[in-house]
Amino acid sequence: MKGIILAGGSGTRLRPLTSITSKQLLPIYNKPMIFFPLQTLLNAGIRDVLIIVAPSNAGDFLKLLGSGKEFGCNFSYEIQDKPEGLAQAFLIGENFLGGDAATLVLGDNIFEDNFSEAITTFKSGGRVFAKEVPDPERFGVVTFDENKRAISIEEKPEHPKSNYAVTGLYIYDNTVVEKVKTLQPSSRGELEITDLNNVYLREGTLDVAFVAGKWFDTGTFESLYEATQFVRERELAKT
Ligand code: G1P
Repeated sequence: MKGIILAGGSGTRLRPLTSITSKQLLPIYNKPMIFFPLQTLLNAGIRDVLIIVAPSNAGDFLKLLGSGKEFGCNFSYEIQDKPEGLAQAFLIGENFLGGDAATLVLGDNIFEDNFSEAITTFKSGGRVFAKEVPDPERFGVVTFDENKRAISIEEKPEHPKSNYAVTGLYIYDNTVVEKVKTLQPSSRGELEITDLNNVYLREGTLDVAFVAGKWFDTGTFESLYEATQFVRERELAKT
């Protein structure tokens, strides 16, 4: 199992904070944001990690994270030239993956949970993680039947059919690259992760698990602030 952190994009919703740096380098209390998704992969035992960044601040990521030796792992880097979708990470990472399964985590997602069991027990298909939220229209939204099996996933629907967001951690088997190659860009010009999840869903191989602890997608000022508060409380509780 290899890991990918997608830290591309231009962070337009967080301007002017992101006018001079990447969203994923902004501080969350005492660490740059990307440390948190990185820790999620490390906690799950993943040691080969591809970090995909936008061209503008690529050098800063390298300066911050280096070879990975300091973290006991190997880091590789690739550039996402334009924000052309989360699923594009698997095309950019095709050589890095070399036919292995992959766990993708978004560089702006902060999880309290430990996913090592979910990752080590994974065998095939896809596995994603849902969380009940008050603002599902901001996310991929999943609906379930009475047996808690996923029946639909929609990207940022105007009228969400449930309150369950698909969070930014995705585990896929080694068919992921060929599946992404069948996708067409959406109306916003992106290869959507939701379309990829729907390929697995239609195939009957998508497992939707649940996030138990806190989860933050830090794409807005409010969520950035809430995540900072959460990490601060967790850090202070340690002392
Ligand atoms: C992306 C995905 C969305 C997912 C979310 C999780 O949205 O498109 O399906 O629910 O990440 O953080 P974005 O944060 O790029 O708006």
